[in-house]
Amino acid sequence: MTPSADDLLSRLKLQGAVPGHVAVIMDGNGRWAQRRNLPRTAGHQAGMASVRGLTEAGIQAGVSTLTIFAFSQENWQRPQEEVDALMALLQHYVATQSAELTAQGVRVRVLGDRSPLSAHALKAVEFVESETEQGRVLALNICISYGARAELTRAARLLSEEVAAGRLAPADIDEARFAERLYTAPWGDPDLLIRTSGEFRLSNFLLWQLAYAEFYVTPVLWPDFSREHFFEALLDYQRRDRRFGRVVNE
Ligand code: IPE
Ligand code: IPE
Ligand code: MG
Repeated sequence: MTPSADDLLSRLKLQGAVPGHVAVIMDGNGRWAQRRNLPRTAGHQAGMASVRGLTEAGIQAGVSTLTIFAFSQENWQRPQEEVDALMALLQHYVATQSAELTAQGVRVRVLGDRSPLSAHALKAVEFVESETEQGRVLALNICISYGARAELTRAARLLSEEVAAGRLAPADIDEARFAERLYTAPWGDPDLLIRTSGEFRLSNFLLWQLAYAEFYVTPVLWPDFSREHFFEALLDYQRRDRRFGRVVNE
């Protein structure tokens, strides 16, 4: 018999420390839909329910930050119809979930380049951020129009502007100062990265921040990703031996 979500959760709490910050590449919506002879957008719609489940599972497990990849900068190159459907879903998610997220104590932040967002999408983003501002249970960072290389380039540009303005000396630029200019500055680096749908690549996600994250790839497609799958990933993480380049004590 496969263990239930509650069994896995108790095992998780007994086994050891839960990762504080988990990043997720939510992939496989299109394939999920194709296997059912449905349009790709039906997969995106189904994927929304998994986001709700993930948030709930994160709270139950005691994770403090979830950083999820919802729409990459490269995803703007998809057919206009699909881009429009994804943006409409995002706005729907915000409109329907804000109250629940607030009640759960979730604080939502949207990370990425906002300049290509439509006025409607931008309004939705600002709305959910301000509505959930008081949330202290879980930080939910949703990466939209996000690309890690663009984020790194932006950080370099921000630092150069400070140097040009005479507020910063080039010699004072170190890793900590650089990291402060990334979208993720308030939350630090993820401990664990989960990618669904079996792809072993980063797809331009958090290139700096994942330097020492543990990777967990599951073949499960995002719309099928349940609380059980999330707890399995955390249990797997707890069995890892993180060394950070050092020698582990005997
Ligand atoms: C992930 O699912 C959602 C987004 C990238 C927006 P995909 O749409 O990439 O689904 P697959 O990878 O084609 O199955
Ligand atoms: C990564 O998935 C982006 C998101 C999950 C939002 P993609 O489906 O866009 O990545 P590739 O194209 O397979 O690398
Ligand atoms: Mg994909």
